[in-house]
Amino acid sequence: TGLTCGIDIGGTKIAGALVAVDGTITSEARVVSPASDPAAIEAAVAGLVAQLVAVHPVDAVGVGAAGYVASDRSTVLFAPNIAWRREPLGAEIARLTGLPVVVENDGNAAAWGEFRFGAGREHHDQLMVTVGTGVGGGVVSGGRLVRGTHGVAGEIGHLRLVPDGRLCGCGNHGCLEQYGSGSALVREAREQATTNLRARDLLDRVGGDASMINGPLVTLAAREGDLFAIELLAGLGDALGQGIASLCAVLDPGVVVIGGGVSDAGDLLLQPLRAAFERELTGRGFRPEAEIRLAQMGGRAGVVGAADLARV
Ligand code: BGC
Ligand code: NA
Ligand code: ZN
Repeated sequence: TGLTCGIDIGGTKIAGALVAVDGTITSEARVVSPASDPAAIEAAVAGLVAQLVAVHPVDAVGVGAAGYVASDRSTVLFAPNIAWRREPLGAEIARLTGLPVVVENDGNAAAWGEFRFGAGREHHDQLMVTVGTGVGGGVVSGGRLVRGTHGVAGEIGHLRLVPDGRLCGCGNHGCLEQYGSGSALVREAREQATTNLRARDLLDRVGGDASMINGPLVTLAAREGDLFAIELLAGLGDALGQGIASLCAVLDPGVVVIGGGVSDAGDLLLQPLRAAFERELTGRGFRPEAEIRLAQMGGRAGVVGAADLARV
Protein backbone atom coordinates (compact mmCIF):
# COMPACT_ATOMS: atom_id res chain seq x y z
CA THR A 1 0.00 0.00 0.00
CA GLY A 2 2.92 2.28 0.66
CA LEU A 3 1.13 3.86 3.63
CA THR A 4 2.48 3.82 7.16
CA CYS A 5 0.91 5.17 10.32
CA GLY A 6 2.60 8.00 12.21
CA ILE A 7 1.77 8.81 15.82
CA ASP A 8 2.99 11.80 17.84
CA ILE A 9 2.64 11.53 21.62
CA GLY A 10 3.06 14.89 23.31
CA GLY A 11 2.38 16.18 26.80
CA THR A 12 -0.97 17.63 25.73
CA LYS A 13 -2.26 15.64 22.77
CA ILE A 14 -1.73 12.48 20.73
CA ALA A 15 -1.91 12.91 16.96
CA GLY A 16 -2.03 10.18 14.33
CA ALA A 17 -1.96 10.09 10.55
CA LEU A 18 -1.66 7.80 7.58
CA VAL A 19 1.29 8.96 5.52
CA ALA A 20 2.30 8.09 1.96
CA VAL A 21 5.89 7.51 0.73
CA ASP A 22 6.13 11.13 -0.43
CA GLY A 23 5.19 12.45 3.01
CA THR A 24 1.60 13.31 2.15
CA ILE A 25 -1.02 12.79 4.84
CA THR A 26 -4.07 10.87 3.61
CA SER A 27 -6.06 10.90 6.85
CA GLU A 28 -5.55 12.00 10.42
CA ALA A 29 -7.02 11.95 13.92
CA ARG A 30 -6.14 13.18 17.40
CA VAL A 31 -7.06 12.75 21.07
CA VAL A 32 -6.18 14.42 24.36
CA SER A 33 -3.06 12.89 25.96
CA PRO A 34 -3.62 11.12 29.32
CA ALA A 35 -0.04 12.12 30.19
CA SER A 36 -0.07 10.84 33.77
CA ASP A 37 -1.09 7.26 32.89
CA PRO A 38 1.21 5.18 30.63
CA ALA A 39 -1.33 2.38 30.13
CA ALA A 40 -4.01 4.89 29.14
CA ILE A 41 -1.60 6.47 26.63
CA GLU A 42 -0.92 3.07 25.07
CA ALA A 43 -4.64 2.32 24.89
CA ALA A 44 -5.30 5.74 23.33
CA VAL A 45 -2.57 5.16 20.73
CA ALA A 46 -3.95 1.71 19.90
CA GLY A 47 -7.41 3.30 19.51
CA LEU A 48 -6.05 5.94 17.13
CA VAL A 49 -4.20 3.32 15.09
CA ALA A 50 -7.32 1.15 14.85
CA GLN A 51 -9.37 4.13 13.72
CA LEU A 52 -6.82 5.04 11.04
CA VAL A 53 -6.10 1.56 9.69
CA ALA A 54 -9.84 1.00 9.33
CA VAL A 55 -9.62 3.63 6.56
CA HIS A 56 -6.59 1.94 4.99
CA PRO A 57 -4.33 -0.93 6.17
CA VAL A 58 -0.65 -0.18 6.90
CA ASP A 59 2.55 -2.21 7.21
CA ALA A 60 4.01 -0.48 10.24
CA VAL A 61 3.54 2.19 12.90
CA GLY A 62 6.07 4.89 13.73
CA VAL A 63 5.67 6.58 17.10
CA GLY A 64 7.22 9.90 18.07
CA ALA A 65 7.32 10.11 21.86
CA ALA A 66 8.09 13.13 24.05
CA GLY A 67 10.81 11.47 26.08
CA TYR A 68 14.21 9.80 26.16
CA VAL A 69 13.88 6.86 23.75
CA ALA A 70 16.50 4.15 24.15
CA SER A 71 18.55 2.88 21.23
CA ASP A 72 16.29 -0.20 21.03
CA ARG A 73 13.81 2.26 19.45
CA SER A 74 11.09 0.89 21.72
CA THR A 75 11.71 1.74 25.39
CA VAL A 76 11.12 5.21 26.79
CA LEU A 77 13.72 5.53 29.54
CA PHE A 78 12.41 8.75 31.03
CA ALA A 79 10.21 11.74 30.25
CA PRO A 80 10.04 15.10 32.03
CA ASN A 81 6.39 15.83 31.16
CA ILE A 82 4.85 12.35 30.87
CA ALA A 83 4.80 9.57 33.50
CA TRP A 84 7.23 7.33 31.61
CA ARG A 85 10.02 5.58 33.52
CA ARG A 86 11.59 2.70 31.57
CA GLU A 87 8.31 2.21 29.75
CA PRO A 88 8.21 -0.57 27.11
CA LEU A 89 6.12 1.70 24.87
CA GLY A 90 6.88 0.12 21.50
CA ALA A 91 6.35 -3.43 22.72
CA GLU A 92 3.03 -2.51 24.34
CA ILE A 93 1.70 -0.73 21.27
CA ALA A 94 2.84 -3.63 19.07
CA ARG A 95 0.99 -6.03 21.36
CA LEU A 96 -2.20 -3.94 21.28
CA THR A 97 -2.19 -3.29 17.53
CA GLY A 98 -0.58 -6.45 16.16
CA LEU A 99 1.65 -4.27 13.97
CA PRO A 100 5.42 -3.67 13.90
CA VAL A 101 6.23 -0.49 15.85
CA VAL A 102 9.25 1.80 15.81
CA VAL A 103 9.55 4.45 18.54
CA GLU A 104 11.57 7.63 18.08
CA ASN A 105 11.89 10.77 20.16
CA ASP A 106 9.23 13.27 19.00
CA GLY A 107 11.74 16.04 18.27
CA ASN A 108 13.84 13.61 16.24
CA ALA A 109 10.75 12.47 14.35
CA ALA A 110 9.83 16.08 13.55
CA ALA A 111 13.41 16.79 12.45
CA TRP A 112 13.29 13.80 10.15
CA GLY A 113 9.93 14.88 8.68
CA GLU A 114 11.15 18.38 7.88
CA PHE A 115 14.48 17.10 6.59
CA ARG A 116 12.85 14.61 4.22
CA PHE A 117 9.82 16.57 3.04
CA GLY A 118 9.84 20.09 4.45
CA ALA A 119 11.91 23.13 5.35
CA GLY A 120 15.19 21.19 5.63
CA ARG A 121 15.09 19.47 2.24
CA GLU A 122 17.99 21.37 0.64
CA HIS A 123 20.28 20.90 3.63
CA HIS A 124 22.43 18.10 4.99
CA ASP A 125 22.84 19.67 8.39
CA GLN A 126 19.68 20.74 10.14
CA LEU A 127 18.65 21.61 13.66
CA MET A 128 14.98 21.18 14.47
CA VAL A 129 13.42 22.91 17.44
CA THR A 130 9.87 22.01 18.47
CA VAL A 131 8.06 24.41 20.75
CA GLY A 132 5.13 22.77 22.52
CA THR A 133 4.47 21.52 26.04
CA GLY A 134 8.23 21.01 26.15
CA VAL A 135 11.08 22.16 23.94
CA GLY A 136 12.17 19.32 21.68
CA GLY A 137 15.07 18.99 19.33
CA GLY A 138 16.41 16.91 16.53
CA VAL A 139 19.76 17.07 14.82
CA VAL A 140 20.40 15.92 11.27
CA SER A 141 24.11 15.86 10.50
CA GLY A 142 25.52 14.88 7.13
CA GLY A 143 22.04 13.70 6.14
CA ARG A 144 21.66 11.36 9.11
CA LEU A 145 19.60 11.64 12.25
CA VAL A 146 21.89 11.95 15.28
CA ARG A 147 20.73 9.55 18.00
CA GLY A 148 23.90 9.32 20.07
CA THR A 149 25.25 6.22 21.76
CA HIS A 150 22.19 5.60 23.94
CA GLY A 151 19.49 7.01 21.67
CA VAL A 152 18.98 10.17 23.69
CA ALA A 153 20.98 12.84 21.82
CA GLY A 154 19.29 16.11 20.92
CA GLU A 155 17.60 16.88 24.24
CA ILE A 156 17.92 20.60 23.60
CA GLY A 157 15.08 21.54 25.96
CA HIS A 158 17.41 20.68 28.81
CA LEU A 159 20.25 22.90 27.79
CA ARG A 160 20.96 25.12 30.79
CA LEU A 161 19.93 28.67 30.03
CA VAL A 162 19.68 30.23 33.50
CA PRO A 163 22.01 29.16 36.33
CA ASP A 164 19.90 28.35 39.41
CA GLY A 165 16.80 29.10 37.37
CA ARG A 166 13.36 27.52 37.39
CA LEU A 167 13.03 23.87 38.37
CA CYS A 168 12.45 21.67 35.33
CA GLY A 169 10.50 18.42 35.02
CA CYS A 170 13.86 16.74 34.38
CA GLY A 171 15.06 17.62 37.88
CA ASN A 172 17.57 20.29 36.87
CA HIS A 173 17.25 24.04 37.23
CA GLY A 174 17.20 26.69 34.51
CA CYS A 175 16.58 24.48 31.45
CA LEU A 176 15.67 26.20 28.16
CA GLU A 177 12.31 24.43 28.33
CA GLN A 178 11.38 26.45 31.42
CA TYR A 179 11.71 29.69 29.44
CA GLY A 180 11.01 28.76 25.83
CA SER A 181 8.10 26.26 25.81
CA GLY A 182 4.35 26.54 25.49
CA SER A 183 4.10 25.55 29.17
CA ALA A 184 6.41 28.42 30.10
CA LEU A 185 4.24 30.77 28.06
CA VAL A 186 1.05 29.68 29.82
CA ARG A 187 2.67 29.65 33.27
CA GLU A 188 3.99 33.18 32.78
CA ALA A 189 0.66 34.42 31.44
CA ARG A 190 -1.32 32.92 34.32
CA GLU A 191 1.14 34.13 36.97
CA GLN A 192 1.09 37.68 35.71
CA ALA A 193 -2.58 37.79 34.80
CA THR A 194 -3.73 38.70 38.28
CA THR A 195 -0.87 41.02 39.27
CA ASN A 196 0.11 42.81 36.08
CA LEU A 197 -2.37 45.49 35.02
CA ARG A 198 -1.20 45.16 31.45
CA ALA A 199 -2.62 41.64 31.42
CA ARG A 200 -6.16 42.98 31.82
CA ASP A 201 -7.20 42.42 28.21
CA LEU A 202 -5.98 38.81 28.31
CA LEU A 203 -7.75 38.20 31.60
CA ASP A 204 -10.97 39.67 30.18
CA ARG A 205 -10.85 37.10 27.41
CA VAL A 206 -11.22 34.32 29.98
CA GLY A 207 -13.86 36.07 32.08
CA GLY A 208 -11.33 36.83 34.82
CA ASP A 209 -10.33 33.17 35.37
CA ALA A 210 -6.54 33.06 34.86
CA SER A 211 -6.50 29.25 34.91
CA MET A 212 -8.41 29.29 31.60
CA ILE A 213 -5.54 30.99 29.75
CA ASN A 214 -3.88 28.68 27.22
CA GLY A 215 -1.23 28.99 24.51
CA PRO A 216 -3.51 29.46 21.48
CA LEU A 217 -5.34 32.23 23.37
CA VAL A 218 -2.10 34.12 24.04
CA THR A 219 -1.17 33.78 20.36
CA LEU A 220 -4.59 35.01 19.28
CA ALA A 221 -4.37 38.01 21.61
CA ALA A 222 -0.89 38.80 20.31
CA ARG A 223 -2.12 38.60 16.72
CA GLU A 224 -4.82 41.09 17.62
CA GLY A 225 -2.21 43.50 18.92
CA ASP A 226 -2.30 42.85 22.68
CA LEU A 227 1.07 44.19 23.86
CA PHE A 228 1.27 41.96 26.93
CA ALA A 229 0.72 38.82 24.85
CA ILE A 230 3.24 40.05 22.27
CA GLU A 231 5.81 40.48 25.05
CA LEU A 232 5.17 37.00 26.43
CA LEU A 233 5.84 35.46 23.02
CA ALA A 234 8.90 37.69 22.63
CA GLY A 235 10.22 36.33 25.94
CA LEU A 236 9.91 32.80 24.57
CA GLY A 237 11.58 33.79 21.31
CA ASP A 238 14.43 35.43 23.19
CA ALA A 239 15.12 32.31 25.26
CA LEU A 240 14.94 30.06 22.20
CA GLY A 241 17.21 32.36 20.16
CA GLN A 242 19.84 32.24 22.90
CA GLY A 243 19.69 28.47 23.11
CA ILE A 244 19.87 28.12 19.34
CA ALA A 245 22.92 30.40 19.19
CA SER A 246 24.72 28.09 21.64
CA LEU A 247 23.70 25.03 19.66
CA CYS A 248 24.88 26.59 16.41
CA ALA A 249 28.29 27.15 17.99
CA VAL A 250 28.51 23.36 18.28
CA LEU A 251 26.62 22.08 15.26
CA ASP A 252 26.92 24.74 12.51
CA PRO A 253 23.72 23.68 10.72
CA GLY A 254 22.66 25.24 7.42
CA VAL A 255 19.10 25.62 8.60
CA VAL A 256 17.27 25.80 11.91
CA VAL A 257 13.65 24.75 11.62
CA ILE A 258 11.15 25.93 14.23
CA GLY A 259 8.03 23.81 14.71
CA GLY A 260 5.60 22.61 17.34
CA GLY A 261 2.26 24.14 18.32
CA VAL A 262 3.65 27.48 19.51
CA SER A 263 5.30 28.06 16.10
CA ASP A 264 1.76 28.85 14.89
CA ALA A 265 2.55 32.30 16.30
CA GLY A 266 4.84 32.78 13.25
CA ASP A 267 6.72 36.08 13.24
CA LEU A 268 5.52 36.94 16.72
CA LEU A 269 7.86 34.17 17.89
CA LEU A 270 10.38 34.18 15.05
CA GLN A 271 11.32 37.86 15.08
CA PRO A 272 12.45 38.00 18.72
CA LEU A 273 14.03 34.57 18.29
CA ARG A 274 16.11 35.81 15.35
CA ALA A 275 17.03 38.98 17.20
CA ALA A 276 18.40 36.99 20.16
CA PHE A 277 20.19 34.61 17.80
CA GLU A 278 21.87 37.52 15.96
CA ARG A 279 22.85 39.09 19.26
CA GLU A 280 24.33 35.92 20.76
CA LEU A 281 25.87 33.85 17.97
CA THR A 282 29.59 33.51 18.45
CA GLY A 283 31.64 35.05 15.63
CA ARG A 284 28.56 36.94 14.39
CA GLY A 285 29.23 39.35 11.58
CA PHE A 286 32.31 37.44 10.46
CA ARG A 287 30.79 34.07 9.64
CA PRO A 288 27.96 32.66 7.57
CA GLU A 289 24.87 31.92 9.63
CA ALA A 290 22.18 29.28 9.64
CA GLU A 291 18.92 30.29 8.11
CA ILE A 292 16.06 30.16 10.62
CA ARG A 293 12.76 28.99 9.17
CA LEU A 294 9.34 27.88 10.29
CA ALA A 295 8.52 24.21 9.88
CA GLN A 296 6.74 23.67 6.59
CA MET A 297 4.55 21.00 8.12
CA GLY A 298 3.79 23.03 11.24
CA GLY A 299 2.72 20.72 14.05
CA ARG A 300 2.44 17.77 11.64
CA ALA A 301 6.19 17.25 11.13
CA GLY A 302 6.24 14.71 13.98
CA VAL A 303 3.61 12.33 12.60
CA VAL A 304 5.06 12.54 9.10
CA GLY A 305 8.61 11.90 10.31
CA ALA A 306 7.53 9.04 12.59
CA ALA A 307 5.62 7.39 9.75
CA ASP A 308 8.64 7.67 7.47
CA LEU A 309 10.99 6.28 10.11
CA ALA A 310 8.74 3.22 10.42
CA ARG A 311 9.48 2.57 6.76
CA VAL A 312 13.30 2.77 6.82
C1 BGC B 1 11.64 16.05 26.47
C2 BGC B 1 11.99 15.60 25.08
C3 BGC B 1 10.89 15.98 24.11
C4 BGC B 1 10.50 17.43 24.26
C5 BGC B 1 9.37 17.83 23.35
C6 BGC B 1 11.22 17.50 26.47
O1 BGC B 1 10.85 17.87 27.75
O2 BGC B 1 12.75 15.87 27.32
O3 BGC B 1 12.25 14.24 25.06
O4 BGC B 1 11.33 15.74 22.82
O5 BGC B 1 10.16 17.71 25.58
O6 BGC B 1 8.24 17.07 23.53
NA1 NA C 1 15.39 14.85 20.23
ZN1 ZN D 1 15.17 20.10 32.08
